[in-house]
Amino acid sequence: MVEELLRYFSENARDLDWRHNPTPYRVWISEIMLQQTRVEAVKSYYARFMKELPTVEALAEVSEEKLFKLWEGLGYYSRARNLQKAAKIIVEAGKFPDTLEEIAKLPGVGPYTAGAIASIAFGLPTPAVDGNVLRVLSRIKGRNYNAKEAAAELKDLYPPGRASDFTQSLMELGACVCLPNGKPLCETCPVAHECIALRDNRIDELPEKPEKKPRKIEEKNILVLEYNGTFALLKRPAKGLLAKLWSFPEFSDDFRKELEENGYSVKKVVKKPSAKHIFTHIEWKMKIFLVTLSAVPGENGYVWVTREDLEENYAIPAAYQGALKVIMEI
Ligand code: ADE
Repeated sequence: MVEELLRYFSENARDLDWRHNPTPYRVWISEIMLQQTRVEAVKSYYARFMKELPTVEALAEVSEEKLFKLWEGLGYYSRARNLQKAAKIIVEAGKFPDTLEEIAKLPGVGPYTAGAIASIAFGLPTPAVDGNVLRVLSRIKGRNYNAKEAAAELKDLYPPGRASDFTQSLMELGACVCLPNGKPLCETCPVAHECIALRDNRIDELPEKPEKKPRKIEEKNILVLEYNGTFALLKRPAKGLLAKLWSFPEFSDDFRKELEENGYSVKKVVKKPSAKHIFTHIEWKMKIFLVTLSAVPGENGYVWVTREDLEENYAIPAAYQGALKVIMEI
C-alpha cells in the first residue's frame, strides 16, 4: 500500500509553491499557514509572504504591523505572532532545529506540524496526522483512531528515503480523493482495493465526528465613524481574541446619545447591512452603522485614517469585513 501511495503522489501531486525548494523555512511557513486554512486560500498569502520575508532573519526583524498586514484575512492571528517568536528563537540559535523534539518546541508548532516539517524538510520518518490523514487511515483500516494512535501506526510504515513523499501522499489523498461529507472519490483511489471501510460500506461512518459544542453568540453594534474623510480605528487589547489588531469602535444601542455626551456631533446615521463572523468558539452578530460626524473631541482615543492609508498600512481582521466594505463603497 505504501508503494501505491507513493506512486499516486508522484503522478498526481498538486503543483504547490511550497513543494518547490522545500527548505525548513519554506516548509514551516507553509505548514503554519495551512493549519485550519484551505490550500486555495493559502496560495496567494504564501507567495506574498515569501516575497516580502524570504528568510527567517527577515521574519525575525519585520515590524508587527507589517507582519499582520501580510496575514490580514487569513485568521488565527496567533499563528503570525508565534511565527515571529519562533523566528527570533531560530535566529538566536543560529540554525533551524532538525529533530522532531526540537522542532516541536517552537511556539505554534504542535505534534502535527512538527511531524510535517521533520518529514517534509528533513526526511525523518515522522507522521503528520491532521484531519485528512486521520480520515484516510480510519477508512483504510475500518476503525476510528485518535491522532496519537494513528501516528504510532504510521511511523512503522515510513519507507526509507521517502519520508517527505509518504507524508504528503497521505495528505494529498485526504485532500483530493478520500473526501469528507459523503463525497469520497473511491473510483479513483489507488488503495480502494485495500480499504476496509469501502469493503464494508462504512465510508460515511468513518471516521466518527467529534461532537461540536455550540458557539457562544455575541451581538455588537459596530460603528464606522467618519470625520472629514477619515475613519476611526482602534487597536484591540494585547490579550484575547484578535489581540493587537486594528478594529472599529463598538457601542451600545444608545450610541447616538453616547457619542453626543462625549463631545461628538453626529450629522448623519445610516444603517448598513448586518454581518456575522464565525470564530472557533464564538460567533459575532454585528449591526453596522455609518456615522458621519461634524465634530470630534480633541482627545478621543481613536486613530483617524483615510481609506488609502487604511488599505496600505492597517491590518483589519476578516471579522470586520462588513464594516470595511462600508468604507470601500463610499
Ligand atoms: N495541508 C497541510 N500541509 C499540507 C501540504 N504540505 N501540502 C498540501 N496540503 C497540506
